[in-house]
Amino acid sequence: MSQRQRADIEWKDGAVPVATRFDDPYFSIADGLAETRHVFLTGNDLPARFTPGFRIAELGIGTGLNLLAALIAWRAAGVAGPLRYTGFEAFPMDWGDMDRALRAFPEAHAVAGPLVHAWRAGATRFQSDDLDAEFIFGDARETLPRWAGRAEAWFLDGFAPAKNPELWSPELMAQVAAHTVPGGTAATYTAAGFVRRGLAEAGFEVERRPGFGRKRHMTVARLSA
Ligand SMILES: C[S@@+](CC[C@H](N)C(=O)[O-])C[C@H]1O[C@@H](n2cnc3c(N)ncnc32)[C@H](O)[C@@H]1O
Repeated sequence: MSQRQRADIEWKDGAVPVATRFDDPYFSIADGLAETRHVFLTGNDLPARFTPGFRIAELGIGTGLNLLAALIAWRAAGVAGPLRYTGFEAFPMDWGDMDRALRAFPEAHAVAGPLVHAWRAGATRFQSDDLDAEFIFGDARETLPRWAGRAEAWFLDGFAPAKNPELWSPELMAQVAAHTVPGGTAATYTAAGFVRRGLAEAGFEVERRPGFGRKRHMTVARLSA
């Protein structure tokens, strides 16, 4: 992984990783796991929509917390076969930072070991009985257009749109739509107008829902079936 640009991390309150390049935390300082579940799982109507072979795609793998929350939900739902996950990441975290970040969420950290181990080895694919994950490294503006897959549900989890606008551009939202199955969905914690407009222009039906904690709104988007 040496040729990849790494994430530079500072720690807030000793536990919350903040990306120095973007001056933004990877997850909610209040309760990252509960926010993940509210925004990305409930926002995509999961676990109710889980079916065998279900594929989640994510812009911004970060610490892997969203992936682990999805995996915990998948296991609890008892769906046959592996959850399929494709994550896009331009600045992969060092495995030690990932492990340290996940320690704040014992439930997620308890199931993270094999994944962190694969990450440490620089893997781009991780396969087990209940997870088939691929990690696509590089700028998503270049890698997503080249991706041959399509997802049932998207986790749009760039840093704040004002700080990381390239991960929320109308062009990228069009690529998200092009890589979503009919009836598929996308969810994000932000309700920024330009993100909502980009999703609508890309063909999604866009809905504003109550956000997590002190955030008033979040966004969910659905392609027509
Ligand atoms: C808020 S963090 C994601 C948190 C993550 N979902 C988690 O569960 O920890 C945003 C992520 O987007 C990544 N990112 C920023 N710009 C990117 C780009 N142009 N292409 C791909 N990934 C990018 C960052 O490196 C960071 O890991």
